[in-house]
Amino acid sequence: MISSTAIEVDAYLEAALLSDDPVLQAVAEASEAAGLVPHAVTPLQAEFLSMLIKVSGARRVLEIGCLGGYSAVAMARALPADGNVLTTEIDTRTAEVAQANIEASRYAEKIELRVGPAMEVLLEQVEAKAVFDFIFIDADKVNHRNYLDQALKLSRPGTLIVADNVVRGGALVDEGSRENSVRGVRAMFDFARDLEGVQMTALQTVGAKGYDGMALFRVE
Ligand code: DHB
Ligand code: MG
Repeated sequence: MISSTAIEVDAYLEAALLSDDPVLQAVAEASEAAGLVPHAVTPLQAEFLSMLIKVSGARRVLEIGCLGGYSAVAMARALPADGNVLTTEIDTRTAEVAQANIEASRYAEKIELRVGPAMEVLLEQVEAKAVFDFIFIDADKVNHRNYLDQALKLSRPGTLIVADNVVRGGALVDEGSRENSVRGVRAMFDFARDLEGVQMTALQTVGAKGYDGMALFRVE
C-alpha cells in the first residue's frame, strides 16, 4: 500500500528540490503511454543515482534492467563527456520503447542497450574482463543475488553497486516468504553477509512508489 502522505511528500520534495525536467518527463510519459509497468525510479531517486555517479566520478556505468530507459538516461546525463552506460532489457517490446526513449532523449550516443537476459550480458562482460565504476541492479529481483555476484566480478576498488527494491514493503523480513522476488532479495543479503572487502549499507525508502529500499555496496 502506498500512503497518500508519502506521495504528497514526494511531490513536495520534487517541487522544492528538482527543476522541471522535460527530458526525463518525456521518457516517463512515453513509457506510460506504451503501457510499461510503473517501476521506474522516481525523479528524486533518479537524482540520487545521478548524485552518486557525480560524487564517485564514475565514467563507465552498467545497468541491469532498463525498463523504459528512465534511469539509464538519468545516469547517462550525470556522466562526463567520455562516460557511457551499458544497459540490459530482457523484453523485446520494452527494449523497443526504451531505445526510442533513449534516442528521443539525445543521450543515445552514451547509452548502449542490449536486449536479452541480464545474466547473459553479465557473463559476457565478465568474460571480456570489463570493469565498471557504477552498477545499478534493477532487473527481476529473483536473480538479485546472482546479479550482485557477477557485478562484483565487474568491479574495481571503489566501484559502487546499488541494488534496487530490496525491502519490498517489508516482505524482506518474512523468512518463509514464497514470493520469488522476496526470496531472491533475501538470497542477495545472505550472500552479502559473507562478503569481505565490501562496504555495505542499505536505505529504506518511502515515497510515490511505496515502501522499499536500496542496498549499496562499495568495493574496497
Ligand atoms: C518492482 C520492480 C522494480 O524495479 C521497482 O522499482 C519496483 C517494483 C516489481 O517488480 O514489483
Ligand atoms: Mg526498481
